[in-house]
Amino acid sequence: MNILLIGSGGREHALAWKIAQSEKCDTLYVAPGSDAIAQEPNTQCVAISVEDIDALVSFAEDNKIELVVIGPETPLVLGLANRLRDKNIPVLGPEKDGAQIEGSKGFMKDLCAEFDIPTARYARFTNLNEALPYIEEQNFPLVIKADGLAAGKGVIIAQNLSEATDAATEMLTGESFGAAGTSIVVEEFLEGEEVSFFAITDGQTVISFNSAQDHKRAFDNDEGPNTGGMGAFSPARQGVWNKELEQVTLDTIVAPTLKGLQARGISYCGVLYAGLMLVDTDEGKKPYLIEYNARFGDPECQALMMRLRSDIVDLLYAAATSQLSEWSGKVRWHDKTALNIVYAAQGYPGAYQKGTPILNLEQLPEEDGFKVFHAGTKRSEVGTWEAHGGRVLGVTAMADSPAEARTRAYTALKNIEWDAGFYRTDICKNIA
Ligand code: AMP
Ligand code: GLY
Repeated sequence: MNILLIGSGGREHALAWKIAQSEKCDTLYVAPGSDAIAQEPNTQCVAISVEDIDALVSFAEDNKIELVVIGPETPLVLGLANRLRDKNIPVLGPEKDGAQIEGSKGFMKDLCAEFDIPTARYARFTNLNEALPYIEEQNFPLVIKADGLAAGKGVIIAQNLSEATDAATEMLTGESFGAAGTSIVVEEFLEGEEVSFFAITDGQTVISFNSAQDHKRAFDNDEGPNTGGMGAFSPARQGVWNKELEQVTLDTIVAPTLKGLQARGISYCGVLYAGLMLVDTDEGKKPYLIEYNARFGDPECQALMMRLRSDIVDLLYAAATSQLSEWSGKVRWHDKTALNIVYAAQGYPGAYQKGTPILNLEQLPEEDGFKVFHAGTKRSEVGTWEAHGGRVLGVTAMADSPAEARTRAYTALKNIEWDAGFYRTDICKNIA
């Protein structure tokens, strides 16, 4: 079949790499894709932006696309899946109403409250005069969140009253995140270890799609500013995550979420990415929902795609056509650790230079269980690679143990010559 993948980052490079390996894939089109994605076999990039919904739908119709896979959140929130389903084109990704689980933190929290999904205690505000007296009565740290999409920056962990007041004021006046911040969620700070849990659903059947953990701070030892993720590994640390917690998550978080969405008349088809906090309670460790994303995580997806053994096209097509029950208990994974080190531009997540040269990428090993996914590169006119983003490369390796995967990824990464880049040296460190 002809497949259309939407997006251009490291997540989409990993998805493209895996989709292109499937016998079911004739041509994979990626909009807009990237120079690196275009190098995958049977893959063509088309210059359409992820926000140009009309052009994406026309392209899918004109090219007899039989499956559309939507990578990033923006086209989901803009309703791309609605428009494709109107044309009977199978698509993996929720419609606009379902995408609110990511697009509106308030929507997600209200759903949790109504359906008894464990999450941090919270209150919602649109009016500063109402928010401030509430904030004054809370304990600190306190978490202040912009309701809408804010490119991963809309969460402030305020250490004291003055930081919380500033954050709420800047959000509610529209100063920090524009319209995305004029409604806020104020919530209790939860302590514990974070785990990312992935599920795929066609609206009825839910398939567990494995676990990962990521490293959010820019620098080693979890120092420096928050980022979209400086590295990830899958599965999550086995001392902290296990089959039992996965089942508790499916039963107490994922199942009631689908029930709640159905009660609101929403049929959700796509990825459910649950950001969990494993909190110590009187009854032992318990997963609390910190956030939902309506898509795969990036860089987590790069590690997941490396571990996935099953044919992803078969699986995603089944999800897009309400046949996911055939896959229950059948998704196959490599019983190994995959990890991903993000090579980012110096300055990220703040301002950074573009166009700096990256050398030696062609010299890296081309072998099973190793791949450099490109999140933000371009080829120059003379064919060399240049950095054109904040997170630029995802050096991804798989091995029998976390330690071997680390050695494999870092050994390869050290051959890359990129003066203007930096990476964390402690991805997946001390993980048994
Ligand atoms: P989010 O965008 O909602 O995932 O938030 C970004 C990050 O902020 C999360 O990955 C957590 O590390 C942190 N965070 C968000 N909400 C809370 C909370 N209620 N308690 C503790 N940490 C939180
Ligand atoms: N790595 C976090 C995210 O994709 O949201």
